[in-house]
Amino acid sequence: MTRLLRGRLLSFLRQPEDLGDDGSYTYHEDGGLLIEDGKIADIGDYAMVRMRAPEGVETVDHRPHLIMPGFIDPHIHFPQMQVVGSYAGNLLEWLNTYTFVEEQRFGDAGHAARIAGKFFDELVRYGTTTAVAYCSVHKASADAFFAESLRRKMRMVAGKVMMDRNAPTALCDTPQSGYDDTKQVIADWHGKGRNHVAITPRFAITSTPAQMEMAQALAGEFPDLHVQTHLSENLDEIRFAAELYPEAIDYTDIYARYGLLGPRSLFGHCIHLSDREADAMSESGSVAVFCPTSNLFLGSGLFGLKRLGRRPRPVRAAIATDIGGGTSYSMLRTLDEGYKVLQLQGDRMTPFESFYRMTRGNAEALSLEDSIGTLDVGSDADLVVLDAGAIPATALKMEVVSSLAEELFLMQTMGDDRTIAETYVAGEPAKGRLG
Ligand code: GUN
Ligand code: ZN
Repeated sequence: MTRLLRGRLLSFLRQPEDLGDDGSYTYHEDGGLLIEDGKIADIGDYAMVRMRAPEGVETVDHRPHLIMPGFIDPHIHFPQMQVVGSYAGNLLEWLNTYTFVEEQRFGDAGHAARIAGKFFDELVRYGTTTAVAYCSVHKASADAFFAESLRRKMRMVAGKVMMDRNAPTALCDTPQSGYDDTKQVIADWHGKGRNHVAITPRFAITSTPAQMEMAQALAGEFPDLHVQTHLSENLDEIRFAAELYPEAIDYTDIYARYGLLGPRSLFGHCIHLSDREADAMSESGSVAVFCPTSNLFLGSGLFGLKRLGRRPRPVRAAIATDIGGGTSYSMLRTLDEGYKVLQLQGDRMTPFESFYRMTRGNAEALSLEDSIGTLDVGSDADLVVLDAGAIPATALKMEVVSSLAEELFLMQTMGDDRTIAETYVAGEPAKGRLG
């Protein structure tokens, strides 16, 4: 299947340093993007790409819209679609009152399959083409997730959650069953289509030392897999984790003791890290995942994206929705809230940095930038088509917008699913087909 897209094209080469850093991206005002067999086969000025393209190729004209790599959401909970907007004062109350109740429903394969369909619909609606997801403790939930992702030909990273204490019995596995089920999920799904399995101990509070040893064993057996968990989100959580692992010097050290730090490890939240913990994250190449809408909604705190980035030993960072602690599926809304979290700390990020982070930046955090997050030749043809004027109020504002930076900033500040004119998955229009 070959298709030629025409429109304005924007793709990042590296993290932009300031508003004037135009060496950090490539931009084609009248661009052509050739897609062959789900991959990007050519990119450049439209006239040139048109000339090099096969005779009679189908052309889709997206002018004047902006075509970018699909958005990447590196921390989201698939079984929490119906937890979003639950009224709670803090993380632990929210988990115990709503989340650990709702996730029990995912032992039912029929329910998991229904929600998987809805989940991928929402991702596509908001322009997200890759997500790193937590399933529930049930193997059936991971089966439902990966079956749907395979059907839609999406690049997804996800794991069956391992949790064996401090939760309802119906939501607990055991060290052995958590290990066995994770191994089975890997055998069944890893590398099938574009599926990646992640080793997923939920967090130190819900895993016994015996289960952490099993997570360590899995990480040792499958060194190419991602590891995902939660770290340092809430002060009560930090105190509880310290009680459960008295031998660890701090929260990060709990994971370090089980060999779970490393360049493929993603730690959700990381709000209250000490300098020592930040150094340990940095030295191991671990990734801190900023979840602004969740951190604000649960009152967890202000993530120091710039503080961690400015250190002599910077910490790698990604930015994510964290549905259902998070409150929007939209990476545009997420970056808007992230921007405000930085403002409250006397920092900011430029619109170019924001759109870098939604795309290439998050891909780099996953070490997947050779496959996703750019418009480079050979990359997966996962794309968003952005229409900054899709909303009446943004159409009005667009009358006075005069630069690409202003246009990006408007989409970040006011955009939502209406801003996403189309989402392409492996070269095929997916949003238009949602109905
Ligand atoms: N810590 C452990 N589990 C969770 C979860 O589901 N959401 C959030 N925000 N934090 C967690
Ligand atoms: Zn989370």
